[in-house]
Amino acid sequence: MHLIRRNRILRQTPAIRAMVAETILKPADFIAPLFVTEGKGVREEISSMKGYYRMSIDLTLVEVKELWALGIRCVLLFIKCDDDRKDNKGTEALNPDGLMQRTIKAIKNALPEMVVMTDVALDPFSTFGHDGIVEGQEIVNDPTVEVLAKMSVSHAQAGADFVAPSDMMDGRILAIREALEDSGFTRTGIMAYSAKYASCFYGPFRDALDSAPGFGDKKTYQMDYANRVEAVKETLMDVEEGADIVMVKPAMAYLDIIREIRNSVDVPVSAYHVSGEYAMIKAASAMGWLDENKAVLESLTSIRRAGADLIATYYAKHAAQLLNK
Ligand code: PBG
Repeated sequence: MHLIRRNRILRQTPAIRAMVAETILKPADFIAPLFVTEGKGVREEISSMKGYYRMSIDLTLVEVKELWALGIRCVLLFIKCDDDRKDNKGTEALNPDGLMQRTIKAIKNALPEMVVMTDVALDPFSTFGHDGIVEGQEIVNDPTVEVLAKMSVSHAQAGADFVAPSDMMDGRILAIREALEDSGFTRTGIMAYSAKYASCFYGPFRDALDSAPGFGDKKTYQMDYANRVEAVKETLMDVEEGADIVMVKPAMAYLDIIREIRNSVDVPVSAYHVSGEYAMIKAASAMGWLDENKAVLESLTSIRRAGADLIATYYAKHAAQLLNK
């Protein structure tokens, strides 16, 4: 054979492969989601997310320092609200001394450099487990947006660097941006869950926060997974309304959407490798059917390759440990 081009030349050795690798994963690409619960010294494993825990603030601080030492630069906070503080108005979400607000302050106090992002949506605070206010059978848009804007200001007041609205109500990015401006928070960023699909892969997360919808599903606000053009529409609107970072969620079943969005906007794109995606790798590796370390790196690299600049993943710490070896 006289071949002019031999593609295998560039795959011969680990050194050559490292030279020509197109996608490099690094700890600073990761956003580590954290579930915070009331109490002291509390560390509860989430049954459907083996190896992942709800932690009280004190232990969360220990975790945050470990993440920082591994090169992770951003955490995304979710809180588990006590049942007796839930209602249909998001009252507890606005409590200046609420668990979220206390957690933000504690982290910014212990490690000011760590970028703190906060979840903005009503489901952890809702007796109905919905992301917005419920009237009859409807999740009402505009009254919900008002609360989300106040909630964002409350998080900014506590010291959040970015608010991350995960609710998919219409017009919330603009309302949040205006509320932040009105309150003088000109340095607070918005990471918008722009193309968030109504997905079965959120199941384990809802166990973690006890936030499964009490009736119906989330299909009147989260997107239909049949749609791609709509993801571009949603995301372009969020950028126009003031989003600093946009997000596609979930990640692995939506790699085409991540690429589509990366090609459509001029802001950083994040992708959320969600709880069900974590659980699938955990379960298959527990059975001995997958090599967990390899599955993690291949999955996260594929999300970066698809076009995500940032990845929110429950494997952030694990992957950072692998990458630092
Ligand atoms: C709710 C919210 C969800 C997730 C993040 N914020 C669940 C949902 O929309 O029902 C899912 C995260 C995951 O599954 O890891 N606002």
